[in-house]
Order: sequence, then C-alpha cells, then structure tokens
Amino acid sequence: MDNSATGDCGNFRKIWEVMILKILVIGSGAREHAICWALSKNPKVTRLYAAPGNAGIAEFAQCNPIAPLNFEELIAFAKNVGIDLTICPMETPLVAGIVDAFEAANLRIFGPNKSASRIEGSKIFAKDFMRKYGIPTAHYQTHTTFESAMVHAATATFPLVIKADGLAAGKGVFICPGIESAHETLDTMFNKGAFGAAGRKVVIEEFMTGVECSVLCFCDGENIVPMESARDHKPVFDNDYGPNTGGMGVISPNPAYTDEMAQITMEKILLPTMRGFKHEKIDFVGVLFVGLMLTKDGPKVVEYNCRPGDPETQALLPRLDTDFLEIIEACLDKNLDNIEIKWKNNAVCCVVAASKGYPGDFKTGFEIRGLRDYGSFVQIFLAGTKKDKNSFFTDGGRVLNVVASGATLEDARNEAYKALSGINFTGMHYRTDIGEIKN
Ligand SMILES: Nc1ncnc2c1ncn2[C@@H]1O[C@H](COP(=O)(O)OP(=O)(O)O)[C@@H](O)[C@H]1O
Ligand SMILES: [Mg+2]
Repeated sequence: MDNSATGDCGNFRKIWEVMILKILVIGSGAREHAICWALSKNPKVTRLYAAPGNAGIAEFAQCNPIAPLNFEELIAFAKNVGIDLTICPMETPLVAGIVDAFEAANLRIFGPNKSASRIEGSKIFAKDFMRKYGIPTAHYQTHTTFESAMVHAATATFPLVIKADGLAAGKGVFICPGIESAHETLDTMFNKGAFGAAGRKVVIEEFMTGVECSVLCFCDGENIVPMESARDHKPVFDNDYGPNTGGMGVISPNPAYTDEMAQITMEKILLPTMRGFKHEKIDFVGVLFVGLMLTKDGPKVVEYNCRPGDPETQALLPRLDTDFLEIIEACLDKNLDNIEIKWKNNAVCCVVAASKGYPGDFKTGFEIRGLRDYGSFVQIFLAGTKKDKNSFFTDGGRVLNVVASGATLEDARNEAYKALSGINFTGMHYRTDIGEIKN
C-alpha cells in the first residue's frame, strides 16, 4: 500500500536539500559563540560565517577579519559568498544602522533597524518613550548643560543615578552617593568630555532598590514573546565588589522573578512597550532586552537593550528547546504568534573566566589549558581567545564562559565550578559566588 506519506517524505527531503542556508554572525564574543553553537544544531544550516569571530566560533564558522562597523565590506562579503541571513547581536552596528544598510542592499538580516535601536542608543529616547507610554521606570530629568544638571543635583535626594545619553560600553552610568560625586561625574561628562557627545546629554534619575532581572524578548514587530528570566552579575569581584564589567556570570531562571512578577511585567511593561513601538511606527524585529529592577512597588525598567545580552544569551540558548533559527525566521516573517517556543525546565549557571586586571588593564597571550569535553551538561563558550596550532591562548578581558545546566540552580552551580576547576590560564579570575543569591 503506497501511501502519500512516503511521497511526502521524498518531497520534504527535496525541499530540505534546496534550503541550503549560509548564515553570517557579526561579533567576536562568547555570545556569538553560543549563537553559532545553537545555529549549528539546525540541519538546514550548511555553512556558518563570522565577522570577525574568535577561536571558539572558528570551530563552527569560517571567520573573516571584517570589523562589525565596516558595513560596506560586510555587505560585499555577504553578496560574494551568497549569505542568506545575517545575525547581528552587537549594539554598536545596530545603533549605527547595519540593518538598514543590509536591507538597502537586499540582504536578509536579523536585528532591529536604526530607528528601533534608538531604544538602546539613546537613554533619553528610551526614558521619554517610557514616560509617554506609562511604562514603570525610575523618575528622571534630562539635561544638556552642566549648569542645569547641577541645579537639579543640588536639590535631589541621594543616591542619584547619572547616565550618559549615548552608548558607553557599560561605562556611562554613575551611582552618586552625594553632591560631591554628582559634581565630579557631571564635570567629567560635560566639561572634560569623557564620553564625547554621548555624555553631553544626561539622564539624572532616582535610585531604585530591589533585585535586578534580565528579560530578553523575541519581537517580530507585532508580537513580543519573553524568554526565560536571567540574572546577570556585573561587578568584577565576589559579593558585588569592584568596578562593573560586561558581566561576570549569569543564572537562569532568576529566582526572584516569580510567575506573578512575570505576569505584571507582561501587562505593565512588555505589551505597552510593543504598543508604544507600533504607535511610534517603530518596527522592532529582533531581541529586545528589558533590564528590570524588581522593586517593592513591582517591576520597573532600568533600561532597554536592542539586542540579546552577553552573558544572558549564553545561559538562555542551552535552555531553549525550540530551534533557534526557526524562531529567528518567525520573527523575520512576522509570524511569532504561530510558533510555540519551548524551554527546558532546568536551571543554568554561567561563570565567566576573565584576565587578571579586567575591566582595567590586563595582559594576554597565556595558554588556556583544560579545554575539553566536560559532558553534556557543560558548554564552554569562548570570548577573547586565539588559536595557534592546536592550543588556545587568551586574547581579551573576558576569556571564556563555562555554562552548566542542572535540575536545580545548585546542581548547575556545582557543575559549572567543577568544570572551571579543570581549566586554567595564567592570571585567570572568576567570581566564586555566581548564583549564590543573597537578596
Ligand atoms: N535608577 C537606578 N537605580 C538603581 N540602580 C541603577 C539605576 N539605573 C542603573 N542602575 C544600575 O546601573 C547598572 C547600569 O545601568 P544601565 O541603565 O543598565 O546602563 P548600561 O547597561 O548602559 O551601563 C544597572 O544594571 C543597575 O545595576
Ligand atoms: Mg545595563
């Protein structure tokens, strides 16, 4: 009995074979390594390319030394190679309009366009947007001169938060305990030009207390679908001591983000954000990162990012049960409401190993030992690394991430630290308290 199933299967295979996909990933961090790892699991993806990539990404993708802001060369490369889809998880190219440039060249790219990326590119734009659409956030004022900012600071309640308007690679936010530090911060920004134009406009806002929570959301311009929650650890040393970094580790889920918090966040923050975008004719297609402070008055937005966070992405992708590329395609096709996104019911702990001295000065070029298979519960994603023959060497501040999963957060933590104890390089530094929740 011939049945159509066999025939269908044959057709299906044919279509499958025709859908050969070449994907270009922009970036060189552990986030991009995790993205390449997730994409490589899809049998449709035949070739992965990265610009510029790193030693870990090179295991999956052909790396090309093109700078992420060199749109002309990236576009020429994409055309020459016949790239079907480009993924840009980095904020600088997004804010500078990489999506608009690729689309103008008829190239498919995943990420928000220049207009939509203002939600991260300008903190003033983001705060005004939240005020307009009634989205809970810290009270604020904006200033474009040193004098008016100082007048405000003189009568403010401390601590006070001062933020440079533009992109500042995580270095443009200052929590000022008193008027002296506010004066010094504003002087550095306005008079000494420490952040260039990005710091000559500032947001001064109320200090919020609570637990921080990262909620990354898939957006297709119409629908917003949150991923599982996460909690980043920014300061370089244990117990949140020392200067802020790009992130020293992350856990998912965030234990403070209860179902009730998630529901309030959806109603008061995520849906109004999407409605606001639509009202402003902003077509946000990509991953919207919503940084929350879970205060006693409910969740409030600390900031939006126009891309998946690093290291949140490294903790979230291993928990994803639905194919990542399928979700990206659903976003691009404005079809998010027609797919189901499934997550593993587990916990993940990601610990970052950094070079001694980071986020200040550090040395590179040390051999990384112990990079091996640590079993199916552990992934190692590389950041600042170089490969020479068969050895890996440090080549950046954040060097690698160990991402471990477990039935509980404690299991995940134990797995992560067990694997980390097998890895070493000269000057390796990591926090020993990732996921040790104290508040
Ligand atoms: N209003 C606020 N109250 C308390 N802490 C804040 C506030 N705004 C920012 N922070 C702290 O500063 C960090 C960085 O601020 P954020 O707005 O996320 O800027 P960026 O990530 O661009 O540096 C936050 O993760 C949070 O810890
Ligand atoms: Mg932030």
